[in-house]
Amino acid sequence: MAKHFLLLNLIAVLSFCCVVLAFEPSPLQDFCVADPAGTAKVNGLACKDPKSVGADDFFFSGLHLAGNTSNTFGSKVTPANVAQIPGLNTLGISLARVDYAPWGINPPHTHPRATEILTVLEGSLQVGFVTSNPENRHITKVLKKGDVFVFPVGLVHYQRNVGNGNAVAIAALSSQNPGVISIANAIFGSEPAIATDILAKAFQVDATLLSQVQCKISVWPILLAQLKVNGLACKDPKSVISEDFFFGGLHLAGNTSNTFGSKVTRVNATKIPGLNTLGISLARVDYAPWGVNPPHTHPRATEIFTVLAGSLQVGFVSSNPENRHITKVLKKGDVFVFPIGLVHYQRNVGYGNAVAVAALSSQNPGVISIANVVFESEPAIATDILAKAFQVDETVVAQIQSKF
Ligand SMILES: *[C@@H]1O[C@H](CO)[C@@H](O)[C@H](O)[C@H]1NC(C)=O
Ligand SMILES: *[C@@H]1O[C@H](CO)[C@@H](O)[C@H](O)[C@H]1NC(C)=O
Ligand SMILES: *[C@@H]1O[C@H](CO)[C@@H](O)[C@H](O)[C@H]1NC(C)=O
Repeated sequence: MAKHFLLLNLIAVLSFCCVVLAFEPSPLQDFCVADPAGTAKVNGLACKDPKSVGADDFFFSGLHLAGNTSNTFGSKVTPANVAQIPGLNTLGISLARVDYAPWGINPPHTHPRATEILTVLEGSLQVGFVTSNPENRHITKVLKKGDVFVFPVGLVHYQRNVGNGNAVAIAALSSQNPGVISIANAIFGSEPAIATDILAKAFQVDATLLSQVQCKISVWPILLAQLKVNGLACKDPKSVISEDFFFGGLHLAGNTSNTFGSKVTRVNATKIPGLNTLGISLARVDYAPWGVNPPHTHPRATEIFTVLAGSLQVGFVSSNPENRHITKVLKKGDVFVFPIGLVHYQRNVGYGNAVAVAALSSQNPGVISIANVVFESEPAIATDILAKAFQVDETVVAQIQSKF
């Protein structure tokens, strides 16, 4: 018995170590903006001199523009990954916009290095993914505006527009460079081609049928090896249903009638149990005119953020000793990155309400609101400590503390 227990522990430890090793390492500095001229071979891209880094390294614009869906599939993916935003380098997250013509599909594919969390901005999509051998369960659901769905790392998945009009989604991926393997292309369109008899045996069909498919490229399921993830709190996979990967309501505005004039609606592993161990989550942020999302940090996540409506001034501050403030005004369709652990904020600088969708590189990123942590801790941090830290009189500190 004890022997079995030990063995199980060993397996658990081993699988945990492999899962950890399979993902991007934690950053070793505030940021490592990709250097286009870098020649060093590293996992990712070499870093630019931090002194020459500016707000535009964390920025991309145009995610409000519809992609051109006039193609065989009737869909178009517009990526915002490290190729577009050099500041994403080493931070383990990226974003994409997907457009679908009526009945357009995003054909079955996998991201070898990322979990995907997707929210529908317009229209209706049927989505699905297939679990690994031996079950190959197909988990599918129809999504409408404001719905959120998760495609776990490495699994084959697809989306199909089932509404009458165009559909639009924003997808976040838990890698700066998630990669795409289009199943049909990888199997039937490889260069040089995989021998027909191998494919005929694999798919258990006649070789003549296959050579027809190889010319046209069709859609087939594939057998994929999937990482076994360690975790005590996993549900029995047999009892897992599509609702476990689903959340509805991200199209609903948060109530911004509060001191800050902003409201964050989080979609983490509490709302979507299927996010457990997958290292990503989503949030919607609403801002009243001049509303602020006050300075805070996420101890466990990098944030990538796109503006759906309005104008926001955003900024983050690098760590000691520079404490550089990197700031920019964003409009609809702009994308910005807040590197892991750094203090950041947003402020609505337009006349109307503003809305943003943020993806975070953890299922539970955590929030540390600077003002609350410093002035509202329980029990309070001694006034003389804060007075020294902020180099103000203790009465000033006491006044601030009384406001919280
Ligand atoms: C969309 O793509 C099609 C096919 O490539 C092309 O003919 C058409 O001009 C494009 N439309 C726009 C608006 O770019
Ligand atoms: C918004 O919040 C305020 C303050 O908590 C509350 O008075 C108001 O009823 C809420 N509005 C809605 C629409 O829920
Ligand atoms: C999700 O976020 C809420 C706070 O909004 C937090 O209380 C909860 O613990 C988080 N859930 C998980 C599983 O991380």
